[in-house]
Amino acid sequence: MAVSLQTTLAGIPLESCLMNASGVHCTTEEQLRDLIQADTGALVTKSCTLEYREGNPLPRYASIPYGSINSMGLPNQGIRYYLGFIEKHQKESEKPLILSVAGLSRKENMELLRMADACENLPLIEFNLSCPNVPGKPQTGYDFDETRSLLEEAFTVCRKPIGVKLPPYFDMAHFEGMAGILRAFPLAYACCVNSLGNGLWLDVESETVSIKPKGGFGGVGGLYIKSTALANVRMFSLLLPGTDVLGCGGVQTGKDAFEHILCGASVVQIGTCLWEEGVACFTRIAGELKDIMEQKGYQNINEFKGKLKER
Ligand code: DHB
Repeated sequence: MAVSLQTTLAGIPLESCLMNASGVHCTTEEQLRDLIQADTGALVTKSCTLEYREGNPLPRYASIPYGSINSMGLPNQGIRYYLGFIEKHQKESEKPLILSVAGLSRKENMELLRMADACENLPLIEFNLSCPNVPGKPQTGYDFDETRSLLEEAFTVCRKPIGVKLPPYFDMAHFEGMAGILRAFPLAYACCVNSLGNGLWLDVESETVSIKPKGGFGGVGGLYIKSTALANVRMFSLLLPGTDVLGCGGVQTGKDAFEHILCGASVVQIGTCLWEEGVACFTRIAGELKDIMEQKGYQNINEFKGKLKER
């Protein structure tokens, strides 16, 4: 039986439902080329700003027992670098290359979106509403009025398809509040979730925090966040019918990817596991996911996407 991982993202056909999570292995041209060559169906860049940023002081990423903690501080090459790469490579690659933008002010965000809008080959933009690691800048996605007002402006300055990267939510009122705002816009997709913001991990022997920036506080990824990620994928899939949900959080195996799809994800992103294992993780996870599908008699992901049963 032929098992396919094909899916669509905002109407664009993808050969595989697996891709990188923004921030991991996508800051330099070399890394982006690796992702094009790897077993991915699409790829997304590191969230960019107008100008190059060095980011926070090192160490700013740590592997911890069941995942990771990071406070990178938006190190990136500046939007022109990524637009140049996309202009050149989108023609050759069938895979959609998504530009992630994360300005530090409304003005910067609108300028980024205007520049992205003008890039002929760029198929899709990810508007990051959930960067937790820039000192003094709260996450937009936790401020509903600001989110609504930013999206209103974003959809007037930019005609290209825009998806959003959301932080994790933890309360039914917040799921419904955010979905109510998102419903008013022609969103290309909602990606759930960014890292679990401002966790803290310690080393008891030395009695110190594990990363340098922000006194050790950083975004948590990996298995720690899988249940929260699945809850967000599930709730936004139910609350935003007709909008693609991208699942991100705690995917290390084919089984994890299967769970995200069962909760409603059209595409599954890999972050911490990609950081730890490199781009070979896509081939491994794709194989494991296909094995599970084959055992269950599924030939494509639409046969079980969103079909999680309640008891
Ligand atoms: C960074 C982290 C994020 O989770 C994000 O969405 C954007 C940027 C960072 O620290 O670089």
